[in-house]
Amino acid sequence: MSLTLALSKGRLLRGSEQLFTRAGLPFPADEGRRLVVTCGALRFLFVKDMDVPTYVEYGVADCGVAGRDVLLESQSDLYEPLDLGFGRCRIVVAAPVGTAPGLRRATTLRVASKYPRLAAQHFLARGLSVELIRLQGSVEIAPRLGLADCIVDIVETGRTLAENGLEIVEDVVTSSARLIVNRAGYHARRAEVAALLAALAGARS
Ligand code: PRP
Repeated sequence: MSLTLALSKGRLLRGSEQLFTRAGLPFPADEGRRLVVTCGALRFLFVKDMDVPTYVEYGVADCGVAGRDVLLESQSDLYEPLDLGFGRCRIVVAAPVGTAPGLRRATTLRVASKYPRLAAQHFLARGLSVELIRLQGSVEIAPRLGLADCIVDIVETGRTLAENGLEIVEDVVTSSARLIVNRAGYHARRAEVAALLAALAGARS
């Protein structure tokens, strides 16, 4: 099996390492600051989570591991053949504790998010006009500082929301880690991709 895989060093890294190890696949023990690491027959590219779909869509990587949240936001043209079963989280609308009733009555909102496309689709489906403010992280501080009325962001344990005086207003989507595959590579490298898929599918928790 000789494939290039795009992974992020973010929240899915530890789960990816555990899954690859259970599957008996090579995984870099400590990649340090190197961004391209060959390990056994696999070559790993470590990139930003939002860039994983891009590397796979353009065929620089044959496969990748990305959250459904990132895939919905990127709308890249890819195969998504396997739910890897880890990295489960929710994307929610959250707002300062006690402000949800007012938000539900509002006709226009300022929304801060790392997921502007997902957020826009969510509010559009509800017929609400929103002003979207794109942030790269630490989104939870935006309402307190008056930058936004609410946020659309990931909730895993709920700690970050609680520690920043926010509560969930409504769910947007659920997410987990997915294996993604380049469309052309899925056919051109059929045997290698099938072997990777079988190994990962058999090791899912
Ligand atoms: C994500 C998300 C929340 C946090 C939620 O951030 O944006 O901040 O995790 O986790 P919790 O419900 O378990 O508290 P991430 O760690 O990806 O970093 P970021 O803030 O830089 O986006």
